[in-house]
Amino acid sequence: MKNKIVSGIRPTGNLHLGNYFGALKNFLRLQEESDCYFFIADYHSLTTHPTPENLQGNVKQVLAEFIACGMDPDKACIYVQSDVPETIELYLFFNMNAYLGELQRVTTFKDKARKQPDNVNAGLLTYPTLMAADILIHRASKVPVGKDQEQNLEMTRTFAKRFNHMYNTEYFPEPVAYNFGEELVKVPGLDGSGKMGKSEGFGNAIFLIDDEATIKKKIMKAKTDSGPTEKNSTPPDYIQNLFALMNIVSKEETVKFFKDAFADCNIRYGDMKKQLAEDMNEFIAPTRDKILSISSNDELLSKIAKQGRDKARESAQQTIREVRDIIGFKSI
Ligand code: ADP
Ligand code: TRP
Repeated sequence: MKNKIVSGIRPTGNLHLGNYFGALKNFLRLQEESDCYFFIADYHSLTTHPTPENLQGNVKQVLAEFIACGMDPDKACIYVQSDVPETIELYLFFNMNAYLGELQRVTTFKDKARKQPDNVNAGLLTYPTLMAADILIHRASKVPVGKDQEQNLEMTRTFAKRFNHMYNTEYFPEPVAYNFGEELVKVPGLDGSGKMGKSEGFGNAIFLIDDEATIKKKIMKAKTDSGPTEKNSTPPDYIQNLFALMNIVSKEETVKFFKDAFADCNIRYGDMKKQLAEDMNEFIAPTRDKILSISSNDELLSKIAKQGRDKARESAQQTIREVRDIIGFKSI
């Protein structure tokens, strides 16, 4: 069987630089060489109870952003998760062998439960079983995701192993997070803490649709201080984050210039941020322009979604037929 690749992104807002470098960039490389299934995880997004209008709008927007970044429906299967309801049947099977204790221990669940204490629903608890179903419905072995998804992937392996053991089969592979042999990526946010993410509040994330003025405003607001006082010292986290962002979008000599200035204690953070904003805008501009033109092209978007749906369902239906047979659902 050819190596299959699966990954998904929840349509809970516009894509940001973290999504791009943690996931999309690898989608683009992988679509050239492998059998890829990339989907918009709209079932997953129901944990936060979007309105019907927001749900549909967000799915369309993310699809437009995928295409604007260079994802090619003729090379990869690009689909909307809810167009493949076979996923839910596999989700149910995995849920029957997923235990409350292990689901409660997942850090993303604990984080979400802390952030939204009034909405700790069963969908949130069983997020890892749905994610396992997304991946294993195509029997994929590699999953391009950012570092934050490692634990969810470990759960996927647990459910795959458990199924195989229970039915004495090797039907499901044990998928791994994938980044071409390099370390998994974590793009920091602009607020000085943790990762770039869309739910971290305004100013933390740079979105692929941000215009020049917005990018500048966000970057100029990033936390800095009065500068190092000791030569060759280690920058504090919030300054390291700015260097990390610069590493991603600026030229090597630009990064070196500011690193040397930091080491010599004569860095001017205002200049550094101005340069970063300029380079960031240059990096984002071509994609931003494409997003704007594609997102208003409904005809193109629905054609792409249909093309993906047909291929994804074919693959999913085969898995469900075989899984039903293994479990013992046979026609009587
Ligand atoms: P968000 O955290 O903004 O809600 P998602 O959880 O929808 O983003 O992430 C979608 C994909 O983007 C996943 O593969 C995830 O690992 C990746 N990703 C998100 N934020 C980052 C980041 N800051 N650095 C690296 N990868 C990220
Ligand atoms: N959990 C992923 C995230 O928050 C999104 C996702 C859902 C996913 N199902 C997946 C990623 C299957 C890879 C494979 O980013």
